[in-house]
Amino acid sequence: MSLAGKKILIGVCGGIAAYKIPLLVRLLKKNKAEVRVVMTASAIEFVSPLTLSVLSESKVLYEFQDEKHQWNNHVELGLWADVFLVAPATAKTISAMAHGYADNLLLTTYLSARCPVFVAPAMDLDMYSHLSTKKNLEKLAQFGNHIIESTEGELASGLVGKGRMEEPEKIFLSLQKFFENKERLKGKKILITAGPTHEKIDPVRFFGNHSTGKMGYAIAKVAADNGAEVKLISGPVHLKLEHKNIEIISVESALQMYDEVERNFDSCDVAIMTAAVADYRPEQVAAQKIKKEDELLNLKLIKNPDILKEMGKRKKHQLLIGFALETQNAVENAQKKLTKKNADLIVLNSLENQGAGFAHATNQVDFVTPEGVQHFDLKLKSEVAEDIINFIIENM
Ligand code: PMT
Repeated sequence: MSLAGKKILIGVCGGIAAYKIPLLVRLLKKNKAEVRVVMTASAIEFVSPLTLSVLSESKVLYEFQDEKHQWNNHVELGLWADVFLVAPATAKTISAMAHGYADNLLLTTYLSARCPVFVAPAMDLDMYSHLSTKKNLEKLAQFGNHIIESTEGELASGLVGKGRMEEPEKIFLSLQKFFENKERLKGKKILITAGPTHEKIDPVRFFGNHSTGKMGYAIAKVAADNGAEVKLISGPVHLKLEHKNIEIISVESALQMYDEVERNFDSCDVAIMTAAVADYRPEQVAAQKIKKEDELLNLKLIKNPDILKEMGKRKKHQLLIGFALETQNAVENAQKKLTKKNADLIVLNSLENQGAGFAHATNQVDFVTPEGVQHFDLKLKSEVAEDIINFIIENM
C-alpha cells in the first residue's frame, strides 16, 4: 500500500539507534508519505538535523524557537500529523511521556498530538527490563499509544539482550499495516465483555475470579484500531485504556453485566464475550458485615443468567463469539458450548497450557466453529486479538 497523502511526524530521541532514522525516513518518502521530524537536543548529537532535513524535504525542529526567535509551533505539528512516531524512544523520553513532562519540543508535541502515537523503545537491556521502564511503557500503552517492542540482539554496550530498536523496515511495516487496517471495521459496532464479575456477600466481601481483563481489553484495542466503534463492558480490573473509538462501561456483578449487554446487544454487529462471569451469586447480600460467630457459614447461591446463552437466543444479524476456559476435555466442552450457546465461534483456552488463560500477557487458543477446530500457537494476547479480528472480517 502506498502511503501517499499520509503525514508522518517522527520524534527522534538521543540514543545510538537514531542513526537508523534516516533509513526509515527514506523508506517512508519512497512510499510517498509526507514526513516531518522533531528532535530532542541530545538526538542531534547522534544524527544530524541536516541529514534528516534533506531526506524528509522539510525543516527539522528541535528547539522551541528558531534562529529568528520565532516560535516553533508544536500544536500545529501535533495537529498536522496522521501518525506521530517516537523512535528511538529512550528511557528518559518514555518516562517523561508517561508522566506528562513537557520540557522540550518533542514532549510538548506529544502532549498536543491528537493522532495515534507509536513508540519504538531503544536502550540497553538492563534499562529496558527495569521495572520503572516496564511500568512506563505499560502506562503509555494504557494511554492508547502503540508500542513497537524492542528486539533482542547485540546492543551498543556489547551486551546481548532485549532493547534494540525494531529495524526501520519493520517499523515501516507497522505503520503501513496501521493505515491498511484502520478502515477494515469502519461503521461496525462491537460489544465486548471483559474481566471478572464480583458477587457481593456483604458490604466488605465478594467472591470473584482471577480474570484481569487483559484478553478483552486487547481485543477492544485491536477492534478499535481497525475502525470499529467499541463498547467495552468491563468487570472490576486495574487496566486503563483510552481510545477515541472505545467506550468503557464499568460494572461489578454478573447481573449488571447482563443488563448492559442486553441494553447494547441489538444495535451491535459483533459481540465478543471474554468476561469470566460468575455462574452463581449469593441469594442474599448481608446488610452488615458478617461476623465470625459460627464454625460453619452456609452461603446459599443462586444461578446468574448466562449472558452468552441469552444473547445466542436473541441474535439476528450479529456474529456471536464466546470464550471457553477449560481445565479438562477442552475441545469437547468447547464444542458443547458452541451449540448450547448458539455462538458462531468459541475461543478455547485451557488452564492446562502454560502461559494461557488468566493474567498472562500471552494466550494459547483454539478456534472452535461448526466447521472444525483451528489451533494457534502460544502468542501475545494482542496477537490473539488480531486473529479474532481477522476471523470477524472473514466471517461477517
Ligand atoms: O482476563 P484475563 O486475565 O486476560 O484472562 C482471560 C480469560 C481467561 C478470562 C479469557 O480468555 C476467557 O477464557 N474468558 C471466559 C472465561 C469463562 O468464564 O469461561 P466459561 O467457559 O465459564 O464461559 C463460557 C462463555 O460464556 C464465556 O464467553 C463467558 O463470557 C460466557 N458466560 C459464562 C457464564 C455466564 N454466566 N455468562 C456468560 O456470558
